[in-house]
Amino acid sequence: MDETGLTGKQKITLLSAWGLIKQDLDLHGRNIMLLIFREHPHFIPYFDFSADPNNTSLSENRALQAHSLNLIMALGALIEYGLKTPKMFECTLAKLVKNHKTRRVTSQDVKMFGEVILMYFAQVLGRQSASSLPTAFNRLIEQIAEAFEAAQFT
Ligand code: HEM
Repeated sequence: MDETGLTGKQKITLLSAWGLIKQDLDLHGRNIMLLIFREHPHFIPYFDFSADPNNTSLSENRALQAHSLNLIMALGALIEYGLKTPKMFECTLAKLVKNHKTRRVTSQDVKMFGEVILMYFAQVLGRQSASSLPTAFNRLIEQIAEAFEAAQFT
């Protein structure tokens, strides 16, 4: 284990799941955001949909699509680049924490997002998903949540 907090095996598990997800980032990103809003509707007001005011349906809203891409690409950056280069992991995480601090996002919120994302990955990858995915993904979410937690006291 290195500074990322993940073992070599956990990294391989995440990299291989990510390799499948990244083939259709736009679709998966949007599905994840919609699932988060369905499971936890109290998160909807955190987001600004005013960039696409004419679209009343969340699933068609381009502002939501833009947020979804931000979220999934940040996860991808942590997995694809961060896990290979711990300093990249640290820097990507630091930027993420900084940008969310003003929005009052807590480590508990991150864990809630993480649970939904994992549920989605398991659903969409089906048998292609390794049995080690839940542990590896939860470890990644823990690392993100810990960074958010630490920032609450700075
Ligand atoms: C899994 C962890 C998360 C990742 C990887 C992530 C990623 C991102 C990224 C990349 C952005 C856009 C740019 C930036 O500020 O860096 C963003 C914006 C945002 N995130 Fe997150 N996020 C996460 C968790 C959360 C949680 C738990 C919330 C709670 C509601 C949240 C709320 C927001 C909001 C409100 C914005 C701004 C959207 C706007 O402009 O209206 N994020 N997120």
